[in-house]
Amino acid sequence: MKHTKVKDLLNSTKPVDDVLVKGWVRTFRNNQFIALNDGSIIHNIQCVVDFENTPADTLKRITTGAAVAIKGDLVESKGAGQKYEVQVKNLEILGDSDAEKFPMQPKKHSLEFLRENAHLRVRTNVFGAVMRVRSVLSFAIHQYFQEKGFVYVNTPIITGSDAEGAGEMFQVTSFPLNNAPLNEEGNIDYKQDFFGKETNLTVSGQLEAETFAMALGQVYTFGPTFRAENSNTSRHLAEFWMVEPEVAFNDLDANMDLAEDFIQYVIKYTLDKCEDDLKFLDQRLTDEEKQKPQAERSEMSLLNKLQFVLENNFKRVSYTEAIDILKNSKPNKNKKFNYIIEEWGADLQSEHERYLVEKHFKSPVILFDYPANIKAFYMRLNDDNKTVRAMDILFPGIGEIVGGSQREERLDVLQQKITELGIDEKELWWYLDTRRFGTAVHSGFGLGFERLVLFVTGMTNIRDVIPFPRTPQNAEF
Ligand code: 4AD
Ligand code: MG
Repeated sequence: MKHTKVKDLLNSTKPVDDVLVKGWVRTFRNNQFIALNDGSIIHNIQCVVDFENTPADTLKRITTGAAVAIKGDLVESKGAGQKYEVQVKNLEILGDSDAEKFPMQPKKHSLEFLRENAHLRVRTNVFGAVMRVRSVLSFAIHQYFQEKGFVYVNTPIITGSDAEGAGEMFQVTSFPLNNAPLNEEGNIDYKQDFFGKETNLTVSGQLEAETFAMALGQVYTFGPTFRAENSNTSRHLAEFWMVEPEVAFNDLDANMDLAEDFIQYVIKYTLDKCEDDLKFLDQRLTDEEKQKPQAERSEMSLLNKLQFVLENNFKRVSYTEAIDILKNSKPNKNKKFNYIIEEWGADLQSEHERYLVEKHFKSPVILFDYPANIKAFYMRLNDDNKTVRAMDILFPGIGEIVGGSQREERLDVLQQKITELGIDEKELWWYLDTRRFGTAVHSGFGLGFERLVLFVTGMTNIRDVIPFPRTPQNAEF
């Protein structure tokens, strides 16, 4: 007999005799009422046990966390709170759970505690909801680009280049760490290493994606990226997923249009498909906010925030305008920022980004035309010779969610930049070839997938929106 998902039982339009349902016991009350969950939906189905005709020995094994198979009839519920329930005719314990030792007790646990039990936290309502939303969001991303005729490219995980030039890479080698062969100069001889050169885990698929855009027109990557930056913040992971579209013949304006349309599409898609989970997460956030002092509370509920992003254009502001706003802002004048903005050229910290989004514009913001020297080598130089066609999208509560640019398509300008930065041209010969053979204006961006999931779920720590977070000093599971 095939078993039916809890979701289908709860959405049934009529009573059904003889159903089979399988799942995990969340609670068991009064030796009679099982709240059963199978992950198909946030809600549990109530299963009513005929305790007088059930062996005491079986009743004892119906404990929180146990896996069970239940045969019975789906009937209209007499109790409040649910339309249907299952009248149990037969109950089989599939897997016992030692209720006293089971870490996921039927009570509120702290998110910190749940992080230490990441292998079990997905059995809670919060993490079930977050992980279902994450799954739908990633499908929405593919759907958006596929509908628009983009080609999905799997760029390599192991690379020889540092796309962002930030030097925050995890090295890949098959050398024994304590006995790597040396060359005549006494340095590690990578010629003898597995790939015959120094390699690392990729920080971005962009450079390879660009070569594909120059043939297939519109492409996107969606894969894991790795950064060994030692920033222990609620927005950084050492292993995170990035979506990187790259489009031939798009200038920066078209790039911004694409990013905005894309983000609005995937949020709308998820609002439509994840109503129950988002309602639950909305309530969770509201409860959470009530714990905070009035002044720190968010003015909007989660669902209102998502709706706001759909209904309002992102504000497009140049870096130069943003610096003026920040210089004249109250927290800058009162020295409330940790980093005081003194002059044009300063790199923006997340406190500045969040001020612009949350206090000044009260809307998502796209900042563009940044100073060349605080951005990566591949961005197109403006005619002023000091800014580049970069854009960052800033979101409330998150800060930077997207980083992108129009790419430098002029070979000579790109070569000069590479030389200035001391990058070895030989390492990027294949990248420069795109500028040698049929170069063209093109643009792209990278969206940090977990930062998007943070925004959509209303969670506040990035460790809580990826199944098994990798952060400094933490690679458990
Ligand atoms: O701004 P970034 O570094 O841009 C790039 O890597 C470009 N190559 C993208 C492109 O143009 N194709 O990273 C892009 C986004 C950031 O805006 C942020 O959302 C996310 O990736 N991100 C991180 N997310 C989680 N943890 C980290 N350590 C992150 N670093 C960047
Ligand atoms: Mg960036």
